[in-house]
Amino acid sequence: MIISSATDFREAARRKLPPFLFHYLDGGAGAEQTLRANVDDLQAVRLRQRVLRGSDQLDVSAEWFGERYKLPIALAPVGLAGMYARRGEVQAVRAACHRHIPFIQSTVSVCSLSEVAAQASKPIWFQLYVLKDRAFMRDVMRRAWELGARNLVFTVDMPVPGNRYRDLHSGMSGPDGPWRRVLQAMLHPRWAWDVGLHGRPHDLGNISTYRGHATGLADYIGWLGENFDPGIAWQDLQWIRDEWQGKLIIKGILDPDDARDALKLGADGIVVSNHGGRQLDGAMSSAQALPAIAEAVKGQMTIFADGGVRTGTDVFRMLALGADGVLLGRAFVYALAVQGQAGVEKLLAIMEKDLRTNMVLTGVKSVAEIGPHLLAR
Ligand code: GLV
Repeated sequence: MIISSATDFREAARRKLPPFLFHYLDGGAGAEQTLRANVDDLQAVRLRQRVLRGSDQLDVSAEWFGERYKLPIALAPVGLAGMYARRGEVQAVRAACHRHIPFIQSTVSVCSLSEVAAQASKPIWFQLYVLKDRAFMRDVMRRAWELGARNLVFTVDMPVPGNRYRDLHSGMSGPDGPWRRVLQAMLHPRWAWDVGLHGRPHDLGNISTYRGHATGLADYIGWLGENFDPGIAWQDLQWIRDEWQGKLIIKGILDPDDARDALKLGADGIVVSNHGGRQLDGAMSSAQALPAIAEAVKGQMTIFADGGVRTGTDVFRMLALGADGVLLGRAFVYALAVQGQAGVEKLLAIMEKDLRTNMVLTGVKSVAEIGPHLLAR
């Protein structure tokens, strides 16, 4: 199969992965309307074609928090990435470091922070949820800090897990899940050999480290469900702001008022996100929400956006809508599932080429120049 886009990687991943893993990654909440709107609304953004304004010196780098990265893209935190390829988070961090973009490690990664940091040539970024177990939060923040992480991405749009109906159908959750997952693994021998057999241990590395015993996949949804804190409010975040000495990025902002509150808290950045359509089905798409948020806080904090980004053109669109950078979630994991580190690097190269082409065709020379004046109205 010829692979020239994230869509191709998705199709190849669909064939290779046991369905419970493919659909956990690919699916969203409820009727998946927000999931679809993320993609559709972003693709509906029309750009101004400008001619004879070219340059052969294009700058696709981006600077966030005093550090320059080679692309305006970061690998988003994705739970269980280590189930999609052998020691998946390690392969992903190597790809990110090689291309010099940030890798944001999820709390619920398979590989632990120390396993990932040992393979990273640059400091990782770390993602954390609001959990009832504050002692765990403190402990994992301390470990991340000691391993060199300075940018903490704090996810606030998951005080309860979204209703993911596909997970019930696929065997990811539900009472018959365990035997169905074994059966699916046997029917997907390439995955079974690579990850099922040689990608062990399959546990939640950070949580196992904390608990002192393996916390397996079967515990994943249960542990998250029990530990999410539906009562969380802005004032509960103050201790995190006070405790974390590095940069704090609040992920899951979809409303300008919440963006202003994040600023008030003292956050250094936000991620405009609906968690990839995995939480509130019916919420606005990221592309729809972004312009008003940019109007509210642009220039006062760093604005990242995610949701529906599949191509370099989509990255360009997010920047034109007001983002300073883009997080890539599903798309990189499709590539990781198919070809591991090489797949992620290939996808990034494809997206970079796309971005460069669009910069020429819109007459901009640097990422910093991409803004709302390039939207066709
Ligand atoms: C975890 O963050 C998920 O979306 O499943």
